[in-house]
Amino acid sequence: MTRVQAVVLAAGKGTRTRSARAKVLLPVLGLPLVEHVLRALRAVGTDPTVVVVGHQAGEVEAAFAGRGCVFVRQEPPRGTGDAVRAAEPRFAAHPARTLLVLNGDLPLLRPESLERLAGEHRRSGAAATLLTAVLPDAAAYGRIVRDREGRVRRIVEAKDASADERALREINAGVYAFEVPPLREALARLDAGNAQSEYYLTDVVAHLASAGQAVEAVSLEDPAEARGVNTMAELAEATRRLADRRLEQLMSAGVLVDDPACTTVGLDVTVEPDARIRPFTLLEGRTTVRAGASVGPFARVVDCDIGEGAQVLDHCLLRESVVEAEAIVGPFAHVRPESRIGPGARVGNFVELKKTRLDAGAKAPHLSYLGDATVGARANVGAGTITCNYDGVHKHPTRIGAGAFVGSDTTLVAPITVGDGAYIGAGSTITEDVPPDALALGRARQVVKPGWAARRRGGREGR
Ligand code: UD1
Ligand code: MG
Repeated sequence: MTRVQAVVLAAGKGTRTRSARAKVLLPVLGLPLVEHVLRALRAVGTDPTVVVVGHQAGEVEAAFAGRGCVFVRQEPPRGTGDAVRAAEPRFAAHPARTLLVLNGDLPLLRPESLERLAGEHRRSGAAATLLTAVLPDAAAYGRIVRDREGRVRRIVEAKDASADERALREINAGVYAFEVPPLREALARLDAGNAQSEYYLTDVVAHLASAGQAVEAVSLEDPAEARGVNTMAELAEATRRLADRRLEQLMSAGVLVDDPACTTVGLDVTVEPDARIRPFTLLEGRTTVRAGASVGPFARVVDCDIGEGAQVLDHCLLRESVVEAEAIVGPFAHVRPESRIGPGARVGNFVELKKTRLDAGAKAPHLSYLGDATVGARANVGAGTITCNYDGVHKHPTRIGAGAFVGSDTTLVAPITVGDGAYIGAGSTITEDVPPDALALGRARQVVKPGWAARRRGGREGR
């Protein structure tokens, strides 16, 4: 296959989002808007992939550094045609390579559609091929104007369109395949005599057509792919549509999703067949949920591995951690990065873990903070146990041995080691290591004064 190059337009401010952030960096299903376009291109394998940046150029470049893109700056942004011109020195260097030009705000575009566009373009030998869609409400999109023979003549922007043109339902998706030499000729002829005083890329179509060059169109089978993101509402809608796509894939592969309408699963999440995702659950980042595991309701899991048959119960937040097979977490647990909950281990309600490992069958069932700690197999950490891991300057480790029993409301002042099989009495503050199989008590001895209360009442009867 002949090589294909690409230019992605990502310099616009995104005025209609009313956000201070560059539109192309706003998140769609957890990834920057323009990332979705770059992923679609990666599947096609374009070389080079040039990204035109302008508004918050530094931030956009930093977000995609090291990803094999070439950046060019368009300063100031004066329209999509001006943006393509900014990239001209790059694509002019490969005059024989077909050029794909894509708006950076099309998160729903599928790689298959790009491949179809490139394939049709090659087959027909046209100077330009447009990706189009028929939408029930063409709204602010550019309309495709065809002649009586059905040939594409030009694109008219909604703001410049007559009432008749606005009634057209075939729209420009903002994705194009061009041959480089005729594109360059047409770009040289652009002007900004339109409603927005911008250099429109869409005007190259009229220049090419009137010069007798062939312009073809490929219609999207799923018109939703043409949905550009220009407002916050469209951003949210794109997230919902992408999440729905991902959930449909997972359900058709055997994942049990209780209520897809209120479940969100990111594109890089893996869920094995027969895992169950309960309502109001978000699975994000590079999370994996293995067979027979159940997550939710109301759980958020980011960059975690949830093992076979494990349960993450109601209202949990987990990040960058591993939950091994058959372990149970929650309800109401907070598992912070670098934690590992061993096979069959139990982390109960109002327990926070940070950089903590629980070995097989260990338990911290209620109301604990365990930070920088290891808890040996089958050890029991009683309700209210706290590791004092931070002295205000440094973090220190706590080691609780296998089979140890830490009584309720224990304070473990780190660095500290509790030996295998040791016991700690409830309410202790432990500042010295406890040897294996020992009992440690670190609390004031109880004092009982018989009759004290009655005397305080001055011999009065009753209470
Ligand atoms: C554009 C098309 C319209 C099409 C629609 C599809 C033009 C003139 N209009 O309109 O026909 O139906 O997309 O979604 O092209 N950008 C730059 N530099 C600029 C201006 C924009 O890089 O100076 C980038 C933006 O960051 C964005 C893309 O180009 O990623 C499209 O710009 P946008 O303002 O969203 O164009 P639309 O009005 O949506
Ligand atoms: Mg747009």
